[in-house]
Amino acid sequence: MAKILAILCSGRKKGYTAGLLSEAINGAKEVSNSIEVDLLQLHDYKFSPCTSCFHCIRDADHNCILDDDFGKNGKGKLFQKVENANGWIIADPVYMWGPSSQCHLFFERCYPFVWSGKLEGMPMVSISCATNQGMHRLAYAEICKWAFAISLRYIDGLAVHASYYQDALKEAKHLGRKLAEFALSDEKDGRKKFANDEEKYIYYMDKPWNAFIPYMDNLSHGSFGWQLSMMETALRRGIFKREDAVDLLKKSVEEFKEAVKYYNLNDYQNATKYLVRASSYWTHATWKEFLEEQAIKSAPPSVYRPLPKDEK
Ligand SMILES: Cc1cc2nc3c(=O)[nH]c(=O)nc-3n(C[C@H](O)[C@H](O)[C@H](O)COP(=O)(O)O)c2cc1C
Repeated sequence: MAKILAILCSGRKKGYTAGLLSEAINGAKEVSNSIEVDLLQLHDYKFSPCTSCFHCIRDADHNCILDDDFGKNGKGKLFQKVENANGWIIADPVYMWGPSSQCHLFFERCYPFVWSGKLEGMPMVSISCATNQGMHRLAYAEICKWAFAISLRYIDGLAVHASYYQDALKEAKHLGRKLAEFALSDEKDGRKKFANDEEKYIYYMDKPWNAFIPYMDNLSHGSFGWQLSMMETALRRGIFKREDAVDLLKKSVEEFKEAVKYYNLNDYQNATKYLVRASSYWTHATWKEFLEEQAIKSAPPSVYRPLPKDEK
């Protein structure tokens, strides 16, 4: 049986969001008798914000030790459901022009899976439902960003306003069917992980949130190459003290210059390739300088932003 986790982030169990999720579930069940749907109402569970103890990074099994439904050293009810699914449908009401805090908390507590890599490539769809001012498109892009952060395979999403609810119900059913096909394949053929980070970045290029522009913005202080990058500024100011961190920073500077060169030529394929390399060096440089000794007390697990293969 392919297991679909249908996750309701709204406290209103019979509200607009729940109605859309219910149609998505109906759609999924229509696809095959081999689909099993577990409806998860997040408000029925107890889980609190991450405390940054970093146990999940150091732990060989990458479990969470908080004493709640997402923790208990891998025995928490939610943790197990999340881990054992073949696909997720997340349905979330729009709060404060974005996703609800319940939805954010859910993704935050998936942090252990960043280190285990166990969710990488898992199919997922999302539904964001607004009833008032809207901003449902901002909300669904944000959820897509979190899917990217834990390396899910974001398939599709709905940004719904209640004013076209009847149409949205039909779309939700279709969304459920679509997810079911991917969940069946996940169960039968095995998980389709991304070959590498570059493939993941490219996969997300046509999704509601794509990493390219925000990451260019991030590393360039918002200048997209017209000013010194974040790495070059840090180098010139002598902010990084560890020799190994400085070496990584220098490599990041060079890779980012290539990314900017291709970006200015509108060659996004190559720009992405070098941006991913720059971001990987940057991630490892900052880990060494700010995290390894002071906070985490361990090197990054191997699945996390691996360094380019030609790294000596
Ligand atoms: C704290 C809070 C913030 C909200 N912010 C928005 C908003 O930014 N835009 C909007 O259209 N509706 C907003 N709403 C209305 C919700 O989107 C609406 O309650 C929800 O979409 C309907 O889903 P439900 O039936 O599951 O509650 C807000 C509601 C709450 C409780």
